[in-house]
Amino acid sequence: MTKTINIGMLGCGFMGRTHSNAYSQVNHFFELEHRPVLKACYGREQDLEVLKKFQKMWGYESIETDWQKMIARDDIDLIDVVAPNFLHHDMVIAAANAGKMIVCEKPLAMSMAEAEAMVAAVEKAGVANMVMFNYRRVPAISLFKQLVDEGRVGKAFHYRATYNQDYTINQKVPAGGAALWRLDAKVAGSGVTGDLLAHSIDTAEWINGPIQKVVAHTEIFIKERMHAETGKMEPITIDDACMFLAVFANGSIGTFESTRYARGRKNFSSMELNGENGAVYFNLEEPEYLQFFRYADPDTGKKIEDHLTGWQRILVTNGEHPYMDKYWVPGTTIGYEHTFINAIADFFRGFEGGPKYKPDFRAAMRTQKVCDAVIRSAKEGTWVGIES
Ligand SMILES: NC(=O)c1ccc[n+]([C@@H]2O[C@H](COP(=O)([O-])OP(=O)(O)OC[C@H]3O[C@@H](n4cnc5c(N)ncnc54)[C@H](O)[C@@H]3O)[C@@H](O)[C@H]2O)c1
Repeated sequence: MTKTINIGMLGCGFMGRTHSNAYSQVNHFFELEHRPVLKACYGREQDLEVLKKFQKMWGYESIETDWQKMIARDDIDLIDVVAPNFLHHDMVIAAANAGKMIVCEKPLAMSMAEAEAMVAAVEKAGVANMVMFNYRRVPAISLFKQLVDEGRVGKAFHYRATYNQDYTINQKVPAGGAALWRLDAKVAGSGVTGDLLAHSIDTAEWINGPIQKVVAHTEIFIKERMHAETGKMEPITIDDACMFLAVFANGSIGTFESTRYARGRKNFSSMELNGENGAVYFNLEEPEYLQFFRYADPDTGKKIEDHLTGWQRILVTNGEHPYMDKYWVPGTTIGYEHTFINAIADFFRGFEGGPKYKPDFRAAMRTQKVCDAVIRSAKEGTWVGIES
């Protein structure tokens, strides 16, 4: 018999919507022992109208304007943290102490010190926990990892990641407030490093193994902006752009680039790995495709390059491809929202006897460690080592 899990959603913005959709859809596509129920959603008193609209559109049974009250409720089983970054730590610690399962958005925390306390709290409480690095669950990115694990790339030489957007180029874009808290260091922690590169780092380490050291440069292109809440011009201290070099434990080297000033780029996340036997490339603007260049047989190492050699553009919609047997028929695509459905399904399966969900808080702390090292390197202008 299906058991219910009552969801308490802490936030009602962009990620509130993607997570609510995932809970609403997951049992339509995955056979699970549990069924999530959208029990209650939280928003600030000042966002009451937005909260009520959110409740109506997603079908939540009740609302809360005090997140501590939500966590204290006996009828909530799982707390989902989709609030700005500075709240993750306090919300997670309170939820763990109350014995709730926890889903937390990335970046896990504002710093390693916060992340360590959060990991300690969930592990002490023994509650199921996960961090929503949803891009691992794009079928083409899962296939990327599969090809690497099958040895089709072989010895890795180069990893190249970009995560570029263009929405802060105008000086008139304010900082802070409900919409642009990402530009306020007190609320976001860091700029593109925690917001965008955290995704690239999570995927890179998942696919290509741990990063051992980094050297970074960050830039703030617009030094002052009007703060949306105070109405005053205030200095900008988050990184508008960040580029770093990385050395991986497997001997390969990587470049990572992220900015919100790449005119024309809206959510351009790409990754390429070049190895001895082959190469793989993905970009999120064409999420249903994976590109693969095959040079040598993974088992024999024998060259198979011939007159048909060239990049293959694989339409990742077949039943043999990761997650795709759960959806429609070959040739029909799925979208951004399905990456969250896949993640929630994997999380539930993790405590229903399936493989434990990754990244949980402890695994996601690695990304926090690399992000902290990147920011430190940019400040100090030197290479920074990252312990395993
Ligand atoms: N996995 C992903 O791809 C992805 C994408 C976007 C955002 N995120 C993460 O999700 C989290 C939420 O981001 P979002 O894009 O949904 O943000 P958002 O601004 O769309 O929504 C944030 C929610 O928090 C509320 N809020 C804002 N300031 C608050 C405050 N000071 N106190 C209490 N509540 C406040 C807002 O009213 C809103 O309900 C962030 O940690 C972000 O990094 C992850």
